[in-house]
Amino acid sequence: MTHQITLDEPDDFDGWRQAARALALARVAPDGAVWRVAGDAGDLFGADAPLPPPSDPPVNLRVPRAFLDLARSAIQHSDPSRFARLYALLIRLQRQPGAIEDRADPSLRQLEDMAKAVRRDIHKMRAFVRFRTVMDQDGERFVAWFEPQHHIVRHNARFFVDRFAAMRWSILTPALSIHWDGSTLVEGPGATRADAPADDPVEAIWKTYYGAIFNPARVKIGAMLKEMPRKYWHNMAETALIGQLIAGAHQRESRMIDTAAQPSPSGNAAGAIAALREEAASCRRCPLWQPARQTVFGEGPPDADIMLVGEQPGDQEDLAGHPFVGPAGQVLDAALAQAGLDRARLYVTNAVKHFKFEPRGKRRIHQSPVTDEIRACQWWLDQERAIVRPRLTIALGATAARALAGKAVTIGRERGRPVQFADGGAGWITVHPSYLLRLPDPELAERERRRFVEELAAARAWVEAGAGASG
Ligand code: URA
Repeated sequence: MTHQITLDEPDDFDGWRQAARALALARVAPDGAVWRVAGDAGDLFGADAPLPPPSDPPVNLRVPRAFLDLARSAIQHSDPSRFARLYALLIRLQRQPGAIEDRADPSLRQLEDMAKAVRRDIHKMRAFVRFRTVMDQDGERFVAWFEPQHHIVRHNARFFVDRFAAMRWSILTPALSIHWDGSTLVEGPGATRADAPADDPVEAIWKTYYGAIFNPARVKIGAMLKEMPRKYWHNMAETALIGQLIAGAHQRESRMIDTAAQPSPSGNAAGAIAALREEAASCRRCPLWQPARQTVFGEGPPDADIMLVGEQPGDQEDLAGHPFVGPAGQVLDAALAQAGLDRARLYVTNAVKHFKFEPRGKRRIHQSPVTDEIRACQWWLDQERAIVRPRLTIALGATAARALAGKAVTIGRERGRPVQFADGGAGWITVHPSYLLRLPDPELAERERRRFVEELAAARAWVEAGAGASG
């Protein structure tokens, strides 16, 4: 017998999960289920029969977390086979639990590619939506048109609510529209391009949204063009900007972006950091997310003058979800206080946002991140720096220095004086506080601790003296 399952929506993860669970508990083979989405092919297939009862003896269902994470993303893909492929993998995992880690397996790879395409589409929508204004009976409303490749609009709605909480806006797409009135999000049917105004995108909105994450010093034209397919170009105010950048006309853009990046009354930078933090919570850019408990994102005022960058969260940070709260954090806090720096006024983050460790009995032993892991995480650090735009960034130790300088750095040679980091921003390099904890000789430890405090104090004096232009 073939079971037909009709999901309410093309991204109905909960519906899929519930049905897949019932089918698996009833030992239904992958080819015993047909999956469709309500409305996809009229009522051609008629109503679904009730899901089958669990088999006797009962099945002990194994559903690894990594599978659920994969399914949550892949389900948003537009490929109609996604539901069946996920179910087939779920059934296989019952026999071969290790299959979820078998990167060479073609069916897993296919689903991972789908999940990746979905993540890219989510990112594109965030980067390329452009609002136009319309007036309705309640005043100004912002309307944008976007054509996603996958079913990502519902997933992305929260991001836009967070970023544009104070505005009334609509995002129209061919399959689904979302509308925010300042307090409630509602969904509506799909629309056409003609339903959205065609005049220029609203410069001010572009400034609050795009300006906050754009740093002309770091523009990589090739990467930008790759990320910004031509089909989006006509929709965007910065299309003109691209041409000028390519021609090397950086100055005008720098001025424009500098103005744009001023924190707006709506707390633009805070919203951008909050949205980034939310996105980073499900980061899969490198395998470190798997054993770690959570992403530990940066914290502090989004307009901080000074940014502190450590290596990666440690055991306690991983459990607490906050940077520098364990033993190294205590050394750092004491040194900051002695150096006259108020931690509450600093933005504190790490080069790598997941704890890397080796389990040893009940303990989790810190492992240094390798270059690929630092590189994979660089995207988050770059975004944090582009939003916060600190006047000075202090690298604590070799990993942070490497991430910021874009190459290996000899701490002993570069420490304690202003340097320029790879993106042109002003930097300062010093040791990592855990280095002080590891020194066995108490006299040397005390000498090094004092030097650490002096270097932090010198960095503070440098900023207070007005050095380090904003951005
Ligand atoms: N070490 C770091 O580099 N960062 C932390 O957040 C904690 C310890």
